[in-house]
Amino acid sequence: MKDGKTIILGIESSCDDTSAAVLQDGWLLANVMASQEVHRKYGGVIPELASRAHQQNILPVVSQALDQAGVTMDNVDAIAFTRGPGLLGSLIVGTSFAKGLALASAKPLVEVNHLQGHILSHFIKVEGRDNTQPRFPFLALLVSGGHTQIVRVDDYLQFTVLGQTIDDAVGEAFDKCSKMMDLGYPGGPIIDRLAKEGNPTRFRFAKPNIPGLDFSFSGIKTSLLYFLRDSLKEDPDFIEKNKNDLCASFQKDLVDILMKKLVKATEITGIKQIVAGGGVAANSALRNAITSEGAKRGWSTFLPELRFTTDNAAMIAIVGYYKYQKGLFSNLEAAPISRAAEYTL
Ligand code: KG4
Ligand code: ZN
Repeated sequence: MKDGKTIILGIESSCDDTSAAVLQDGWLLANVMASQEVHRKYGGVIPELASRAHQQNILPVVSQALDQAGVTMDNVDAIAFTRGPGLLGSLIVGTSFAKGLALASAKPLVEVNHLQGHILSHFIKVEGRDNTQPRFPFLALLVSGGHTQIVRVDDYLQFTVLGQTIDDAVGEAFDKCSKMMDLGYPGGPIIDRLAKEGNPTRFRFAKPNIPGLDFSFSGIKTSLLYFLRDSLKEDPDFIEKNKNDLCASFQKDLVDILMKKLVKATEITGIKQIVAGGGVAANSALRNAITSEGAKRGWSTFLPELRFTTDNAAMIAIVGYYKYQKGLFSNLEAAPISRAAEYTL
């Protein structure tokens, strides 16, 4: 353990990853994850199975994180937990565990909005790495399996949603595309990998025309569906023969949709500090697009380390750290909030 002041234990269980992390004054001491392989064969997350796996994993994951960090509950100043949004049954496991631990150890509780975690993951400090942080105000492109938003961030806990998807999230579009082509789950990383061998300009799918900074991904998904249906009528092996080009083209279109709105947001706000967050921020084409567009337009761009793109507790602990500093504590009645719409940034 390093010399320092505030030690936060973070707990994340909003979807299918059980994670616990320990931060000291924002420095990462441990980040333990247990991913649930059980959903893979069903082609998507099965909520009942997710809750059960969280229940099995949460105690070992938390104690492993404390061990790795070299701390005990006596050293911890506060317990930060994901209150939402996410799957209700999954959230209940983390919330109840955090409350029980807080009661037993007489430590304060801090509730965290999962989306704020994805955005503030850029403030986690890691030893041996360049820890340059974005300056306020910055724009966050938040892209995950459940959300797609452009958020203006004026301070650690001051967020304004400038635009968001009106239907599917971009991660969902990746996952559904993969399902249509029978490639596996989760689709994002699989498409990313296959796309590297494909031609991104071979096929074109319908692009949405949504005003302002909002997004839509349902049209492009339907466009792919009809295109595959028609092509398979002509050649039953169409997908197998063309999957790399299909993935590369579909991925390019999704990235173009995201980049168009991100560029527009920088033009409207004049903000040139750009961060990406969420599972889809692991996508190599999106990362390249943000970096190259940024170089062209004079942006300062911040892409999270891959381990901080996916759901993790370090990002929950960092939000917990900033809330702790402001004395924003939760109480033992705090119940999960599963829907993002009821949990404003
Ligand atoms: O943030 P996250 O781990 O969970 C949610 O909060 O939703 O995001 C999961 C999403 C999934 O849709 C997954 O397919 C997508 O992130 N994803 C990717 C990549 N890695 C994960 N999408 C595109 N390219 C990737 N490399
Ligand atoms: Zn997430």
